[in-house]
Amino acid sequence: MQSREKWRSSFGFVMAAAGSAVGLGNLWGFAYRSSQGGGLAFLLLYVLIVLLVCVPVLVGEMVLGRSTAASPFLAPSKAAGDSWKPLGWLFAIASCGILSFYAVIMGWTVDTFFHSLFVGLPSDISEAGAFFDRISTGKSVFIGQIISLLLTAFIVSAGVRGGIERLTRLCMPLLFGLLLLLAIWAAFLKGSWEGYSTFLLRWDASQLLEPGTIRNAFTQAFFSLSLGIGIMVAYSSYLDKNNKLPKEALGIVSFDTAVGLLAGMITFPIVISFGLTDVISESTVGALFIALPTGFANLGIFGRLIAGIFFGLAFIAAITSSISLLEVPVSSLMDQLNWERRKAVIVSTLIVFVIGIPSAISLDVLGNMDAIFNVLLILGGFLISILLGWVIPRKYDEDLALANSSYRVRKYLKFMLRWVSPPVIAIGLVISLTDLFQSWI
Ligand code: TRP
Repeated sequence: MQSREKWRSSFGFVMAAAGSAVGLGNLWGFAYRSSQGGGLAFLLLYVLIVLLVCVPVLVGEMVLGRSTAASPFLAPSKAAGDSWKPLGWLFAIASCGILSFYAVIMGWTVDTFFHSLFVGLPSDISEAGAFFDRISTGKSVFIGQIISLLLTAFIVSAGVRGGIERLTRLCMPLLFGLLLLLAIWAAFLKGSWEGYSTFLLRWDASQLLEPGTIRNAFTQAFFSLSLGIGIMVAYSSYLDKNNKLPKEALGIVSFDTAVGLLAGMITFPIVISFGLTDVISESTVGALFIALPTGFANLGIFGRLIAGIFFGLAFIAAITSSISLLEVPVSSLMDQLNWERRKAVIVSTLIVFVIGIPSAISLDVLGNMDAIFNVLLILGGFLISILLGWVIPRKYDEDLALANSSYRVRKYLKFMLRWVSPPVIAIGLVISLTDLFQSWI
């Protein structure tokens, strides 16, 4: 048995977890979903879901990882017996599935990055469509996907401290700083205010009850926080007993939400300023890969530079997320079969690559993978809240007490985990499933 690695510092752990949370989902999903009609209602639902439902579950995942010191595959059965084995399978399968299409989108990001710096960007809407076809079809998709997976594998094989923590500790503050600068720049574009008010701040109370908006808010909350499939179980299994989990969870959540908002504050002024309104709501990927490159291209060579910075950043954000996804199958194989890290990385990466091939070939498949796995996240979140809140509630409390989290905080979290998270997530799950099936019909 190899001895278990540990994070170097609490800051390193929070940055790694925030790195997992902040990714393409923030840069593209947030802007896209809030522009889909939800506006401020979407934002409100999103924040409520995150604070009331997701934080207790996030802490739950952390407790599960730390108290068992086991990989996501083994942690549920180790904590609550063999009848919870299927949850371990859900974690492992869902993280491989998500990484498989995530790597394809990362590949587009690589491609857009190179186009920004060395080839050129589309100058208007008609060219934008052709541009997107070029980056999302054909051989270049596979090249991008393979580059992304290889880099991910390389970092994960360097281990928790030497790979994951070292990269994220450096990149996350940098990412945040640069996004802030870009948001300030965007605020001075003509039409910036109209951009915020059209997409982000528009208030329509009826949207609060719209199934599509509710599904969007749930999906965005779970996907963006990397919640529900054992990422935080994996990361927290490398924690010491003296980390104050609730405080760290709040740090992760704030960071993640701030980046989503910043991304919106960059995207929307650009969209209005360059007349790209139709593009953004037309396709899921429209905002990031069609509207932004076209907007940046309008600024000439300077715009291409900014585009290069933006897509470089997007790629960094994506890498710090993809490593967390790969860590789930890798740590599970290491735990279950007693494999070395390198061997586990190679096998997991190959599996993920193969599962991703259909998504690389067809945008339709990719969209469906995204939709299906997003529902699985919500299901995972529901099961975690049942496991920690009802099956082993004492563990939740005891583990939090270890680091002297105050009695009031513990009581609040436990109450939410037992009485609020399960029913609210169950409702979200039913609405999301219904909405998904309807979209298929
Ligand atoms: N949260 C990341 C993003 O916003 C993606 C991600 C990483 C993820 N790990 C995950 C999504 C686990 C769901 C589950 O891009």
